[in-house]
Amino acid sequence: MTRVSMKVDGVVYEDDVEPRRLLTHHLRDGLGRVGTPIGCDTSNCGACTVLIGGESVKSCSVLAVQADGEEITTIQGLSDGDWHPVQKAFQQHHGLQCGYCTPGMILATVDLLKNNPSPTEEEVRHGLEGNLCRCTGYQNIVKAVLSAAAEMRGEQPHPGSFRDADDKTGVSA
Ligand code: FES
Ligand code: FES
Repeated sequence: MTRVSMKVDGVVYEDDVEPRRLLTHHLRDGLGRVGTPIGCDTSNCGACTVLIGGESVKSCSVLAVQADGEEITTIQGLSDGDWHPVQKAFQQHHGLQCGYCTPGMILATVDLLKNNPSPTEEEVRHGLEGNLCRCTGYQNIVKAVLSAAAEMRGEQPHPGSFRDADDKTGVSA
């Protein structure tokens, strides 16, 4: 067993873990973060995405011991009472469908918008291509991300509008 310490959703935990234990399993089974789903367990679907040091990471691709000393945010710690703007936008635009893909979609979006506050539709689709939804379309998810981006920039988005890849004006069509 190896001693690991990590701050998860604002709380510091110290635990002895098996060196082979995946971070996903440690978060879910060890620390009660069951809001982090397991979809594929093979780094393909993005369901298990969390933020490590603010960067979106598929937690099934990381060993718990590799996260020693890190600060981690799961979907359960994203909001501090009121919903995060990305959560609100997913709710408003029907971007959340099931409990498997949605936590990862939202956390990947938070990272995406941190790095690119004004993405085009194409950039959103590219930025979320590591997060799979197997049962619906992505249209409402993309709408939600663009809406969240506009709100976080302090703008009022036109409901459901898209900018194309060449439009750098920020004006919705
Ligand atoms: Fe981690 Fe699918 S469960 S990527
Ligand atoms: Fe979540 Fe399809 S996998 S809505």
